[in-house]
Amino acid sequence: MSFPADRPRRLRRTAALRALVAENRLHPSDLVQPLFVREGIEEPRPIPAMPGQVQHTRESLRKAAAAAAQAGVRGIMIFGIPETKHADGRGAWDEHGIAQLAIADVVAEVGDAVVVIGDINLDEYTDHGHVGILGGDGDVDNDASLLAYTRVAVAQAEAGAHMVAPSGMMDGQVAAIRAGLDAAGHERLPILAYAAKYDSAFYGPFRTAVESSFAGARSTHQQDPANLREALREVRLDIEEGADLVMIKPAGLYLDVVRKVADTVDVPVVAYQVSGEYAAIEAAALHGMIHRERAIEESLIAIRRAGARIVITYWATEVSQRLCP
Ligand code: PBG
Repeated sequence: MSFPADRPRRLRRTAALRALVAENRLHPSDLVQPLFVREGIEEPRPIPAMPGQVQHTRESLRKAAAAAAQAGVRGIMIFGIPETKHADGRGAWDEHGIAQLAIADVVAEVGDAVVVIGDINLDEYTDHGHVGILGGDGDVDNDASLLAYTRVAVAQAEAGAHMVAPSGMMDGQVAAIRAGLDAAGHERLPILAYAAKYDSAFYGPFRTAVESSFAGARSTHQQDPANLREALREVRLDIEEGADLVMIKPAGLYLDVVRKVADTVDVPVVAYQVSGEYAAIEAAALHGMIHRERAIEESLIAIRRAGARIVITYWATEVSQRLCP
């Protein structure tokens, strides 16, 4: 009987050895916390499809932002839910719109210690729930929506956002927003492009969180889950148009895309662990089917291992508090 000479287990014997040789690790600086804020409520409202997450009041949002900052989280992404929705989504660029007020509140709370990121889209603000302005055929009108996105970007910039993130998947959105921001004197504001955003069932809980009435499909603008090469095309276009960071979304089911993009581009790569990924683990844990904390951390380290520099996750503050108590 011959014994193995090469013994990988030598490096796994103690926790210190394992930590010393770990190829990747989670750190609060790599995490972005998305937060919801709802116009016209007095108390935070739990989001049933996202156990542990709430629609914040402006007041409770400030506290959540302070807690994220305190935990070392480096980014906060703000999603506003207006009291009233319109066909053209005009609340999205109203200077007194909920997202603009919330961005200003959070910046007042955390200053430059955390990167405050605005989401550029109309879906929370349209009564039909589409991401843009509808054309005569009932589909989203690409170029009419670009104009609206540019207005949203400038409104968020004026409110004090440190970064804007267009998520509508309209062709040319990054170029349009870049030009609009530059013309308004915001040349220094970075754009985080939702570059490869798939048409995913895993956005379901988010849509309940923002009270979306959406009943149609986003398959004419979001990507087909069957495609990888197409993601490279979307990423290339966004970088050519001026994206400063590129995002892949969802994250956990698209790790091959994250890896491929990370190996291809020279801008920071971001992955968004979406509401359905969050809900799936929370639900399984709630039923005692899975070890909650271990599953959360494994899901996150997998995204980092695939090559994402930054991970957007609803667990950002919680995990950061655990990592660096
Ligand atoms: C658009 C936007 C969505 C998400 C982030 N930005 C919704 C959508 O595209 O339908 C989804 C995030 C998630 O599911 O956690 N405002």
